[in-house]
Amino acid sequence: MLFHKSIFFALYSCLLFFSCRKATVSPCNEDTSLYSSADFFIGTAINVDELVFNPRYREIAVKQFNSITAENIFKSAYLHPKPSRFFWADADSLVAFCTTTQKRLHGHTLIWHQQLPEWINTFHGNKSEWEQLFKTHIQTIVSHFKGKVAAWDVVNEAFNEDGTLRNSIWRQHLGDGYIEKAFIYAQEADSLALLFYNDYNLESNPTKRHSVLSLLNAMRARGVKVDGVGLQMHISIMYPDVQAIVEAMDEVVRADFVMHLSEIDISVNPFGKSIELTPDLMKRQADLLGSLVLAYKKVPKRLKYGMTFWGISDQNSWIRTTFNRIDYPLLYDDGYLPKPCFCTLKNTL
Ligand code: XIL
Repeated sequence: MLFHKSIFFALYSCLLFFSCRKATVSPCNEDTSLYSSADFFIGTAINVDELVFNPRYREIAVKQFNSITAENIFKSAYLHPKPSRFFWADADSLVAFCTTTQKRLHGHTLIWHQQLPEWINTFHGNKSEWEQLFKTHIQTIVSHFKGKVAAWDVVNEAFNEDGTLRNSIWRQHLGDGYIEKAFIYAQEADSLALLFYNDYNLESNPTKRHSVLSLLNAMRARGVKVDGVGLQMHISIMYPDVQAIVEAMDEVVRADFVMHLSEIDISVNPFGKSIELTPDLMKRQADLLGSLVLAYKKVPKRLKYGMTFWGISDQNSWIRTTFNRIDYPLLYDDGYLPKPCFCTLKNTL
């Protein structure tokens, strides 16, 4: 009888344990990495100064992520400061870091209208001189990193919100065809790298997204290698809603492009009020991230390039400096401790 009682008690305890585990938020710690919990890449944008001078930052970068995007040092202003001078040192040290720590390196970005060197912004030349500049710029960079960079954001942010082409310096001098040409030149320099088009609001604005997808489809139909789309995912707890994001992902899947959630951050203060980070805000942020992960997990494996966060700690998020507002959009707090959204991410992956 005693034997039966003890079995009953053991079974009862087991049941209680598992039902409790389900009912409460499961504990989360940093002992195992984010990326080992996922069957796709988990990335972060890296600020190289932090990587060198901040041991805690470096520890998190090495431990939690297996894909790296340079937040700034792969941009034109850094890599191509003078017409015939390229500056490789910083980028090469990031390549070395990725090799040593076995991280995938994502190249961001070849053609963009921002963070251009002064000499490109002020370049006077005819169409063929612009063509020359454009081709040399792309091919010198892609060749330098051939075999080291897994994929490139070949063109970044080329569309307006109404779905028309942004009248960037590149379009002004090279015409509408510059996007297609950029992909062709990149492919010539490294035929194995994956080639992405990357933009913001693609997850929230169907008009913009449709224009992007129809251009990429047309390019692909003409035989141009274009592998994927980067949905930047600079989103907030207010907007867009999860359903809009799911629709965006479905469309990218139906169009059969590889999908990168390329610059994720979730603002809790999009209107720039004077706020404090309350448990409620953190929970809403965590819940949204959880839904995002669940939606991304449904994307077929062959189309999942990965999820990349645009930084590590709230302390060094671009949102604070660029938009001059207090915000807490990332996985780690100002003291580099994991926030609830980190735990939700880890438990949802
Ligand atoms: C941002 C960086 O995070 C900032 O440090 C820099 O001052 C400006 O650029 N979309 C992009 C990224 O594609 O390159 C931008 O990064 C953020 C918006």
